[in-house]
Amino acid sequence: AAGSADSHQHSALDVLIEGLRRLEYRGYDSAGVAVLTDQGIESRKKAGKLANLEAELEASPLPVAYTGIGHTRWATHGGPTDRNAHPHVVDGGSLALIHNGIIENFAEHKAALEADGVEFVSETDTEVAAALLAKVYDTESEGDLTRAMQLTSQRLEGAFTLLAIHKDHPGVVVASRRNSPLVIGLGEGENFLGSDVSGFIDFTKRAVELAQDQVVTITPESFEITDFFGSPAQGKEFTVDWDAAAAEKDGYPSFMEKEIHDQPEAVLQTLLGRSDIDGRLTLDEMRIDPEELKKIDKIIVLACGTSAYAGHVAKYAIETWCRIPTEVELAHEFRYREPIITPTTLVVSLSQSGETMDTLMAVRYAREQGARTMAICNTNGSTIPRESDAVLYTHAGPEIAVASTKAFLAQIVAAYLLGLYLAQLRGNKFQGEIKDILADLNKIPAKIQSVLDNADPIRELARSMKDADSVLFLGRHVGFPVALEGALKLKEIAYIHAEGFAAGELKHGPIALIEEGQPVFIVVPSPRGRDSLHAKVVSNIQEVRARGARTFVIAEEGDEAVKAYAEEVFFIPETQPLLAPLLATVPLQIFAAALAGAKGYDVDQPRNLAKSVTVE
Ligand code: G6P
Repeated sequence: AAGSADSHQHSALDVLIEGLRRLEYRGYDSAGVAVLTDQGIESRKKAGKLANLEAELEASPLPVAYTGIGHTRWATHGGPTDRNAHPHVVDGGSLALIHNGIIENFAEHKAALEADGVEFVSETDTEVAAALLAKVYDTESEGDLTRAMQLTSQRLEGAFTLLAIHKDHPGVVVASRRNSPLVIGLGEGENFLGSDVSGFIDFTKRAVELAQDQVVTITPESFEITDFFGSPAQGKEFTVDWDAAAAEKDGYPSFMEKEIHDQPEAVLQTLLGRSDIDGRLTLDEMRIDPEELKKIDKIIVLACGTSAYAGHVAKYAIETWCRIPTEVELAHEFRYREPIITPTTLVVSLSQSGETMDTLMAVRYAREQGARTMAICNTNGSTIPRESDAVLYTHAGPEIAVASTKAFLAQIVAAYLLGLYLAQLRGNKFQGEIKDILADLNKIPAKIQSVLDNADPIRELARSMKDADSVLFLGRHVGFPVALEGALKLKEIAYIHAEGFAAGELKHGPIALIEEGQPVFIVVPSPRGRDSLHAKVVSNIQEVRARGARTFVIAEEGDEAVKAYAEEVFFIPETQPLLAPLLATVPLQIFAAALAGAKGYDVDQPRNLAKSVTVE
């Protein structure tokens, strides 16, 4: 944040702590701040969550200042210690720097700087960037901090967002980005920089997007963008449509609980305004020529984590509706296997944050190979949509809890809208059928609400199972990715060993795991579905039960037949089989959140994870 005392802005520390609080979901191994006053730079940093830094600031306050930088860390080089926390203050206290990303050629710079007599106190690549910037500033820039940042950025490889302040430049923050996110916020007599807009959403809704490989210098009144070689560049201004209050807990014990309860609204918002009264899909943001889309003969869905499971669900629907072969692949695996991509391949990326580095790199690779690329994303102005040919935004609102919930359902809905749009365009489906599916999708928010309203039994079960050391999840067809997602939620936040299996695969191995008392969740398809799938899953329940498993079943209302085989059944409202994941996932999310809560864990900020992983 850059401000000055005479224009009555917020104090730097207030802005930094508030911003870090909102950004803490991105990483929380350690946190730190540095402020700039006429007396120079002062910094505080602390391992652990932001609360530790706040306690440190209480014990050892910083002077009032209007310019400063702050950081929360997700450790890459060097463990989460006080010393490795950012900012790194170097050059006898002249310069402070924070960094996101990984600097790949840090070792060679470090060796050169050490040969020059620089001593390093941390194990981080960041301190090397700080020392390099200081040296370039002192020896090559003639006192021009922006120039020093440009020269330094040219010499760094890898992914980075860097922010620096210097004692000779009051009211100035200079920053640089390559492959790592950075956005400018424009206030009145004060300007901001953040990894995403939530960093400054309490202070302004006017934001400016930066492009790749740019340097930006902010002062209270101005911002200036250049490339790494000093040529001026323009940023793209946009207005943030998130309400700061949407990122508050609203009385729920955790953001995750709140976000689970936001799901009816998230699905509704994602559906809103995307079809006309006759059920014709109107995807205004679709920037790919319809003629080109008609020729698409293969779809590849790329994503990581929960988003990849949304992709697996979407595959069933897209193939059923569009008859286009659809592959789903983890983004970090995709580009290392020489995938077959042609100009008639559509690559669809799914990313809540729009910043996941693995997904971004896979999208870039696909583009280079000539694919058309489309992003399904929840974060306006983020990198992946910006680098894709088209974007379909999920309007789930800000998702703060590390474990994704509402974004997952919204991603499935958005991918379904894309599937229906392609089916409409290609004439694979009669308009009447599309209209019926849309009508059923429009009923989903109320049905999710009913699952939420009847969730006490699953919470109770979760509390009773807090000592479980392993839970298995089974499903078939679209229930399979639901099982995978149910298991992932439990691993992420309750630290319980959990695995999801395709129920048909059970007999080919996993059944060996079943012993007396093993809890198993089974996602049962609708008895009205095709191909006797229901009967097959019911047989699978019996198979595990016969071997001593405790069986917990998610089934459709009215499916009385399953009761005989289940210790407990959690019913979800009726819907078409392809839409059932939008309901069946919800009890599993609630189960994980309640179980983690019962174990006393931090549901929103599980150990070792980060919400958006901007390293590969
Ligand atoms: C991280 C998070 C996961 C998330 C994944 C993909 O690993 O911990 O919860 O599913 O990234 O994130 P994205 O923002 O690309 O959907």
